[in-house]
Parts: sequence; C-alpha cells; structure tokens
Amino acid sequence: MEVIIRDTRDQAVSLAAAIIARALVKKPNLVLGLATGRTMESVYELLVAMYEDDGLDFSLARTFNLDEYVGLPPEDPNAYRFYMNKHLFHRVNIDLRNTHLPNGMAEDIEAECRHYEEEILDCNGIDLQVLGIGRTGHIGFNEPLSAMHSRTRAKALTPETVEQNAPLFTGGTPMPRRAITMGVGTILECRRCVLLATGREKAEVIAKAVEGPVTAMISATALQLHPNCTVIVDQEAGSLLQNTDYYRWIFENEPDWQQYH
Ligand code: GLP
Repeated sequence: MEVIIRDTRDQAVSLAAAIIARALVKKPNLVLGLATGRTMESVYELLVAMYEDDGLDFSLARTFNLDEYVGLPPEDPNAYRFYMNKHLFHRVNIDLRNTHLPNGMAEDIEAECRHYEEEILDCNGIDLQVLGIGRTGHIGFNEPLSAMHSRTRAKALTPETVEQNAPLFTGGTPMPRRAITMGVGTILECRRCVLLATGREKAEVIAKAVEGPVTAMISATALQLHPNCTVIVDQEAGSLLQNTDYYRWIFENEPDWQQYH
C-alpha cells in the first residue's frame, strides 16, 4: 500500500482523476471500477472537464460500479445508476451498454450477484478500481464483519451508514436498508485499487484502515493485503496518520509519482 497525502482536498481529488485519466489514455478499453458518494462527485467533475477540454476518450471504456441499493429502480434519483448517469455517464462519450451496476430490482438477488461476478470475469477482471470509504470503514458496502473472501452479495447496512447516507436521499424515498455490493474478495482481485478520502470526518477511519491491524471489522484494512493499492488523502483525512514523513517522502522520491508532481 502507498499513502499519498496532498495538502488540499482539490489536490487529492485531482491526483485521483489524473490516475484514472492516464490509465484510460494508456488502455482505451480500460475496465474501470467506480464508486459513488460525495467524494467521488468532484472526481467525476474533473473527468468530465478532461473529456470536454482535452478529449479524454471513454468510448471503449467498460465500467463496473461497486454497489447499488436493493429495491431502487435505475430512474430513482437516489439509485446509484441515476447518480452515475448524472455525474459521469451522460456527460462523456461512454457507451452506456458498457457500464455496469448491480440490478437492485432483480427478483433473484443471488442470481444477480452471480451474474455480476460473471460479467466482471467476461471483461477479464477490473484494471483499476476507485474506492471511497464510509465511516464504518466500508469499501463498497462491505460493512463490518464482511469476509475477506466475500463476493458480490446483498448486505444489510449498519445504522451508522444509514445515518451517513440518508441525508443524501431526496423525493421522500426512504433509504433502503440493504445493498448489493462487490465483496472484499472481488475488490482484492482488481489489478489496481485507488482509495480517495478527504475531510476531517474520515481521519479516524483512515488511520485505522492504513495503520491499524487487518480486521474484518474494518473492510478497508483488507487493502493492506492488496499488491497495488494507493490511498490518497488530503491533509485533514490524513491528520491522524503516524508515518506521514515517510508517506510524503515516497511521493517526492518514487519515480512513478514524478509524472504527477
Ligand atoms: C457510500 C458508498 C461507498 C463510499 C461511501 C463514501 O457509502 N457505498 O462506496 O465509499 O459512500 O461516501 P462519501 O464520499 O459521501 O463520504
């Protein structure tokens, strides 16, 4: 795992967007894993600007989102499909047929989850998975005690997650209590992971995720086992980390990061 601490939120968001853009330029038919939430909105904003201003090409990209609420149709403004269309897919030249989210309306949820895993395999796996982190330490919706080897499945959301995400719900739709999410095992199989966290409210969970012991109680700690994972934080989200001098030194000195300075 590498930890990159940027001074400001904007710098952290820009770095995440730049990593995605470079991966897409290098491999136009990139299989890109996507995340939702407030943090990601700014990343998508930058990717849309790169498409509009610099012609960043999404035409061959394939995408898989981490999760979707159970029981919300795609046209519900609170559904993650709606979020993705609104913030990214409808604003760039991606072929919607190449964009995948779990179907939260599926009658047979288990079959849908198996199907989602098969679709990922059919694309030869995910090249780059972008992740946010919830206050419970979830990646996707892998709430505490999600097995390290878990696959795509429906998970019950914790009261803390409901409290965190319910304010985002509009139009009187009650927030579902379950979601379909890629498993921790599914995420660990992605060839590269980039987790982005900003703001003081993420500081505790980032310190645990990066420097704490690996535990199923905090799914993000599983990323310590991933061979190619970058955690990007702003100063505030990184404020409770211990080894910050070392992390900063890596970013300044590691040749791979020179192109992002
Ligand atoms: C939701 C998503 C997570 C995401 C989290 C972060 O819970 N299921 O994948 O990491 O939001 O949200 P925010 O960026 O709003 O803090």
